[in-house]
Amino acid sequence: MISSNSKLPKVAVLGLGLIGCSWVKALKTANCVGYVSGFDRNVDSMEYAQQAELIDHYSLNINDVVKNADLIIISVPILAVADVLAQIKDSISSSAILTDVGSVKGNIAKAVTQVLGADFDRFVLGHPIAGSERSGVTAADENLFKNHKIILTPEKRTSAKALDLVSDAWKITGGKIELMTVQHHDEILAATSHLPHLLAYSLVDTLANDQENNDIFNYAAGGFRDFTRIASSSPIMWRDIFIGNKDEVLKALDLFTADLQKLREIVANEDKTQMMGTFTRAKAARDHFTKILARRAYVDSMTSQIVNYVAKPGGKLSGEFRVPGDKSISHRSIMLGSLAEGTTEVSGFLEGEDSLATLQTFRDMGVVIEGPHRGRVTVHGVGLHGLKMPPNSLYLGNSGTSMRLLSGLMAAQNFDVEMTGDDSLNKRPMNRVADPLRSMGAIINSAPNGRPPLKITGGQPLKGIHYELPMASAQVKSCLILAGLYAEGETTVIEPAPTRDHTERMLKGFGYPVEVDGPKVTVRPGGKLTATEIDVPADISSAAFFMVAASIAKDSDITLQHVGINPTRVGIINILRAMGANIELSNEKEVGGEPVADIRIRSAQLKGIQIPEDQVPLAIDEFPAIFIAAACAEGTTVLTGAEELRVKESDRIQAMVDGLQILGVDAVGTEDGAIIKGFGAQGSFNGGEVESVDDHRIAMSFTIASLRANAPILVKDCANVATSFPGFVELASGCGINVSAEIE
Ligand code: S3P
Repeated sequence: MISSNSKLPKVAVLGLGLIGCSWVKALKTANCVGYVSGFDRNVDSMEYAQQAELIDHYSLNINDVVKNADLIIISVPILAVADVLAQIKDSISSSAILTDVGSVKGNIAKAVTQVLGADFDRFVLGHPIAGSERSGVTAADENLFKNHKIILTPEKRTSAKALDLVSDAWKITGGKIELMTVQHHDEILAATSHLPHLLAYSLVDTLANDQENNDIFNYAAGGFRDFTRIASSSPIMWRDIFIGNKDEVLKALDLFTADLQKLREIVANEDKTQMMGTFTRAKAARDHFTKILARRAYVDSMTSQIVNYVAKPGGKLSGEFRVPGDKSISHRSIMLGSLAEGTTEVSGFLEGEDSLATLQTFRDMGVVIEGPHRGRVTVHGVGLHGLKMPPNSLYLGNSGTSMRLLSGLMAAQNFDVEMTGDDSLNKRPMNRVADPLRSMGAIINSAPNGRPPLKITGGQPLKGIHYELPMASAQVKSCLILAGLYAEGETTVIEPAPTRDHTERMLKGFGYPVEVDGPKVTVRPGGKLTATEIDVPADISSAAFFMVAASIAKDSDITLQHVGINPTRVGIINILRAMGANIELSNEKEVGGEPVADIRIRSAQLKGIQIPEDQVPLAIDEFPAIFIAAACAEGTTVLTGAEELRVKESDRIQAMVDGLQILGVDAVGTEDGAIIKGFGAQGSFNGGEVESVDDHRIAMSFTIASLRANAPILVKDCANVATSFPGFVELASGCGINVSAEIE
C-alpha cells in the first residue's frame, strides 16, 4: 500500500493539465509521494506547477523527467500519447509503471502495443470520471476525484503488480475504482460522454452561425446554458477523442440521429401521445439518474443510503389523515391500464418504490404513462397485444407482487424477457408461479431453487389450466388469471382460503368478464379491457401501523380517511377488534368496485388471543404490526397457520421475534407462527437497537413500539420504507409518534 510511511519515491507527470495535476496534488497533500517531476509543452505551465509546489522539478527534456520514475502518468491529449511514448521509450526504467487518464482506451492500448510491444505488461489504462469546465494547471484540485469513479481497463497482458500500484495511487485521491474491459469502456463513454459533447458543440455552432438569430445569445436562458455548458471544453482534447473513438461515437450518433428523425416526425404530426411517451420516459430516466447521483435511486435505495429511525419513548396520537394509496391496487392499475384500449386515469396512486417499479416496467415495454404527479397517473393503454420487447432486463427492485404478476403476463408475450430484483427479491421463491405457468406451456428459467432472475421465453402458446393453489396467495392467483387472458380455453384457479381479489374486481371494472364461484375464479381469452378511471383507496396495510399505534398509546384518538376495506383485506380490523381494540367505521361507500371507509381508532387495553387461522390470509401483511399489539396486550397471543410469513420481504416471524426479544418481550417463533406473552397495562418495551432486515414492515412496526417503550428504540436500515410508505416519518411524527430519520 502507498502511504506516508511507504511513499512512492518518484512520480513523473507528462502533460500538466487539470487531471494530471489534480492527481499529483492529491498524492502530495496525502504525503504519499517523495518527488514529482513534470513535463509540459508549455514552459509557463511547468513554471507555474513548480511555484505552486505541484511538482518539485521540471525539464525541457522529457527524458530527464521520466528517468528513474516509479510511476509515469501520461495526461496528454489522446492522439499525442503514441508520440510521447516513442520519445520516452528508452528512458523508462525497467520497473517503472505507466498509466494514462484519457477518455478513450482502445487507441491508447494500440499505441502501447505499437511503441512498447504487445507484451509490455506495465501500462495500466485508466480514466477518471471527473472533470470541470476549468482546465489547466491553475485549476488543479486535490479533491477533484473524491467519490468519483475511476475506471481502469486492465488487459490480459497487464501485470497484477502494475494494476495494484495504479489502483493504490488512485485510492489516495478518494476515487472509487471500477474495472471494465477496454471495449466496454469505449462503448459506454461514446454514449454517455462523447455523444453529448458532440451535440453541444454542434448546437452552439449551428445557432452561432444562424444569421437570422443575432439575438440568440442575448436571450439564451437556463436551458441553453445547461445544455451547452460542455461546448466550452478543450477543442483539441475533444478532436482527439472523436478520432480516437470514432467507431463507437459513430454508432451512438447513428442511433441518436434515427431517434431524432422519429421525434421530428412526431412533432410535425403533432402526435401528443408519442411526445408524452418520449418525454415521460426521458424524464423518468433523468430523475432516476438524479437520484443515483444523490445516492438515492428509487429502485435501489436500500443499498445506496443507510437511514436509521430513532424513535423516542412515549407520545399519543391524534388527528384525521390519509395514508398513501393501496400498493396492490396501484400495481394493478398500471398493469391493467396498460393492457386496456384507451386512456386510463388513476388517482391516489402510491408513489412508493414498488409500484414505481411496475410503472417503469410498463414504460420499458413501450406504454406511455404520464405522471405520477400527486398521485395522478395517466396510462395510454396499448391493448392486450400491444406491449413491446423491453430494451433491457426488467428491474423490479423489492417488489414480489410485480415479479409474480408480471410472470403470468410475460409468459404470454411474443418476446423474451428477463426479470430481476434487489437482494431481498432475488431470494424469494418464484416456483409457486413458474410451476403452474410451465404446465400451461410457458418456458421459464430461473436461478437455482426457483429464485430470480427469471428468464421467460416469448412466443409460447399457453393452454388454460384448472389449478388448485397449494397455498393461499393472491399473487399466484393473479399471475394465473393474467396468463389465462391469453391462454387457449378456460383457466380456473381454486384457492384454499380467500385472498385479496383486487385483480378480479379491477378486471371487471375494465369490462373483462371474470367468473367467480366461491373459491373458484375462471377467465377465458378473447375479451378486451376498456380504459376506465381508478380511484386508489388508502392502503389498509399502511393504515395498520396507525391502527395499532393509536390502540397501544394511551389517550389516542385518530381517524384514517378513505381506507380500502375490501373484505379480503380486513383481517387487521377483525383481529384487533377480537383483542379489544376500539375501532369504528364511518362514511362507508364503494369507489370503482372497491369498498372504502373512514376508520376511527381510540386507545384500548388489548388482550391476548388465539388468532383465528381463517383471518391469516386476510391480514397477511399486517402481522409485524399485530406482533407489536400482542406485546402490549394483557395475556398471551398465539399465531398459527402463518408459515407464509417466512417467505415475505424477510422471514417476518424470525425478524419480529428477534426484535421483540431485544426489546425485552417474551416471544418465541414456531414453524408457522409465534407465541407472544404480552406485558399488559403496566409493562413496556425496553429501549434498544433492532434491525429492519431489509423489510419495510418490520421497520415501521418497531418504530410504533416506541409509543410504549421506556427508552429510545433505534431501528436500523429503514430506507426500505420508501417501497410502500413514502412520507412515513413525516406522517408519524405529525400525528404524535416521536420518530426521526437519521442518515448513517
Ligand atoms: C399481494 C399479495 C400478498 C401480499 C403482498 C401483495 C398482492 O402476497 O403479501 O404484499 O398484491 O397480490 P401473497 O399473495 O403471496 O400472499
